Amino acid sequence: MSDQKHHQASGTSDQHVSAGSEASKGPSRRSFLRAGAASSLAMGAGLLAGNKAAATGDPAILELQDWNQYLGEGVDARPYGTPSPFEEHVVRRNVSWLTADPISSVNFTPLHDLDGIITPSGLCFERHHSGIAEVDPAQHRLMIHGMVDKPLVFTMEDLKRFPRENHAYFLECAANSGMEWRGAQLNGCQFTHGMVHNIMYTGVRLSHLLAEAGVKPKGSWLLAEGADSSTMTRSIPLEKALDDCIVAFAMNGEALRPEQGYPVRLVVPGWEGNMWVKWLRRLEIGDAPWQHREETSKYTDLMADGRARRFTWVMDAKSVITNPSPQAPLMHDKGQTVLTGLAWSGRGTIDRVDVSLDGGRSWHAARIDGPSLNKSLHRFYFDFNWDGKPLLLQSRAIDSTGYIQPTKSALRSVRGENSIYHNNGIQTWHVKGPGEVENVEVS
Ligand code: MTE
Ligand code: CO
Repeated sequence: MSDQKHHQASGTSDQHVSAGSEASKGPSRRSFLRAGAASSLAMGAGLLAGNKAAATGDPAILELQDWNQYLGEGVDARPYGTPSPFEEHVVRRNVSWLTADPISSVNFTPLHDLDGIITPSGLCFERHHSGIAEVDPAQHRLMIHGMVDKPLVFTMEDLKRFPRENHAYFLECAANSGMEWRGAQLNGCQFTHGMVHNIMYTGVRLSHLLAEAGVKPKGSWLLAEGADSSTMTRSIPLEKALDDCIVAFAMNGEALRPEQGYPVRLVVPGWEGNMWVKWLRRLEIGDAPWQHREETSKYTDLMADGRARRFTWVMDAKSVITNPSPQAPLMHDKGQTVLTGLAWSGRGTIDRVDVSLDGGRSWHAARIDGPSLNKSLHRFYFDFNWDGKPLLLQSRAIDSTGYIQPTKSALRSVRGENSIYHNNGIQTWHVKGPGEVENVEVS
């Protein structure tokens, strides 16, 4: 559509006409747009989308939009803000066939719609054994008992009188990527890798609370129990409890969400998600793990020879490319392209992320951007010039201990194919062309 036709069709204000004639005829305006676009994009990969739009008379530039003409809502309209209606597709999703009902179930973080390292509170995946407990904080108590000098009961107010700390930590369910053990299955990083979130917690060190109660010399294990109707319990070695565990009451600057254990949850940095007991109400000190309980013996990794790995608490280094991915394919033709993803390790920070465009034959160092925090998600980018041909995208994380994320076949050669938990193998996305990406495996 020519700019002249456009003026006639829209037939609106002078402003319209002058904006149109500037964009179509005014060389100064055009060159300004081009210079702006080029300087903000470092790669110089030829004609950019922004230039093309200006040259062909983009109605988004030429027409006056509603929001440019009418007053908006006032400051009393949105006492607690929500995302733009244009972002309503950015939601947690579940996989209906995965569990018998949505009460004891899981949903997944939309990793492909997010950027940076912090997961917005309303988008953190949820895993409940008996649904979301709606706890009244005034009626909530945290009890410490067992092998202690002085059994204690804390109210929420009591907990907030201990010195507080802030830490960003990832939580990954041990079953994340579990459906992919035997082969590529789910088409989207939300479903293959979305049982992870990264939250800035505020809370008090568990060690402060345990010191107050006085752990007896023989005490070596901790049982943590939740106040939900499954009264979920987990055994944790006292060494870990005293090292870096946090009793958290805030996430991302505000009170925990009910889905994440309001009013208080246990934070067990770097360790599998099931130990991070939500709606935390009881901590018992003992001298052995509570193995007789069904839950504590459930999280094992069955190997090919029939033996099982047990007490595999630490989440090993892992990464995934979030864009492009099946739910977020490339929408443009060849040329300047941004690839991005997440990497994390339960053993520390991420030193390096490598990216492959050819299924692992050659590797390029990605750029880690944003804070590199202990046991937290790391954001990486790889800016490249796409030749428009199919790609086999992979990423591999290398953590601060030097551990390198394994390929899926390397993982299977050690662990067999019977496991559900602790699948940290390298993910492959097949970019077929604009608009099409698939979950595949390369041998
Ligand atoms: N704590 C209680 N009380 N009840 C639960 O069902 N689920 C556990 C853990 N803590 C659970 C719980 C599991 S298996 C995981 S992976 C994490 O919580 C999930 O935390 P999230 O819901 O914040 O993502
Ligand atoms: Co879990």
